[in-house]
Amino acid sequence: MSDKKPSGLEDVVVAQSSICYIDGKRGQLVYRGYDIDDLVENASFEEVAWLLWRGDLPTQTELDGLQSDLAHAMTLPQHLRDLLHTLPFDANPMRVLAIGAAALGTLDPDADDMSGGANNAKAIRLTAQLPLIMNHWHRINQDMTPIDPKVDKSLAYNLLYCMNGEEPDEYAVETMDAALILHADHELNASTFSARVTAATLSDLHSAVVSAINTLKGPLHGGANEAVMKMLQEIGEPDKAAEYVENAAANKKKIMGFGHRVYKAKDPRAVILEGMSEELGKRAGNTKWFEITREVEQAFQPKVAEKGIFPNVDFYSASAYQVMGIPHQLFTPIFACSRVVGWTAHLLEQYANNRLFRPSSEYIGATDRKYVPIGER
Ligand code: CMC
Repeated sequence: MSDKKPSGLEDVVVAQSSICYIDGKRGQLVYRGYDIDDLVENASFEEVAWLLWRGDLPTQTELDGLQSDLAHAMTLPQHLRDLLHTLPFDANPMRVLAIGAAALGTLDPDADDMSGGANNAKAIRLTAQLPLIMNHWHRINQDMTPIDPKVDKSLAYNLLYCMNGEEPDEYAVETMDAALILHADHELNASTFSARVTAATLSDLHSAVVSAINTLKGPLHGGANEAVMKMLQEIGEPDKAAEYVENAAANKKKIMGFGHRVYKAKDPRAVILEGMSEELGKRAGNTKWFEITREVEQAFQPKVAEKGIFPNVDFYSASAYQVMGIPHQLFTPIFACSRVVGWTAHLLEQYANNRLFRPSSEYIGATDRKYVPIGER
């Protein structure tokens, strides 16, 4: 018997859910019964959002209705635009996103309406508005005029269009749509769990999404994609990757974008993103970032395969986003713009069958102490 103390809630089942299934040994990811490969190949992010929220793929009429609701929500209240202008120039974009989501809560007429209808509508509004907050902040921060979305276009199109102010190319939109699908949900990951914990106190949907954004920010979770990019830049050239990996292993430094609590095989999202990263590199005539990533994988994988450590979703998204010209500081916010769909699907499920989360800890602190007056300490 191992004397390792339980930590990190590993293998602890804390809820039943019918949203997302992961087979960590086989490297399989399934949303509402549909394999992720099938969805990336055939569905749009908007269809997947409906699937995650409602349980089934939408009919054409339902999808048209959703697109119309998203289009109506694709605008930022003036109060929020003004607020973004008051934030410090070097504010972390994930903090800005959390501030923006909290501000939307203060401005949403249904913020405290906990009915299913109101929560569905708030989920749609947040999905339309988080990318706008990200891009509004990015553009004012770079001294550029914010761009209004084209409301007859997809979320993926507008995410790129409002970032760069240029018509995005078709393959870039397709890739972004696929990336949004791939990041949309992942069972009880840390940010989704924190959202559900917040909601289980019967706090409102915006507040729960703010918890989730702040949890996603960390480098062990969503922040890993930006950390991978920093590593690729530090390595600089494909032929330097092996040496970097040797040094990291010798110094017990983690390779970002590797390892997962649930997957003990290559993350199926990494498999898809790897292909996209390679294709994007070829199209752009710049395969350097893809090649460094692949070299890191080839050098590191044999060292850790026995431990069940493989590339995760963040490993190949970094080089793909880099070649698409996306600024590094927006890598994790883009993750949030996608995962907001999963968070809110889980929140709808939590509210529908709620019980407060309140685990216990084993007390290992001091005992039997007596108060000592301050002058005698
Ligand atoms: N590089 C080197 N060693 C690693 C790595 C890594 N990336 N990940 C885990 N290990 C080792 C770790 O040092 C430990 O070794 P030992 O047993 O000898 O002490 C063992 O594997 C178990 O690691 P752990 O950190 O206890 O495992 P965990 O299940 O708590 O952590 C993880 C999972 C994702 C936090 C971890 O693998 C990690 O820190 N990876 C790097 C950050 C990263 O890529 N995060 C993104 C996760 S996937 C997308 C998302 O959630 O956003």
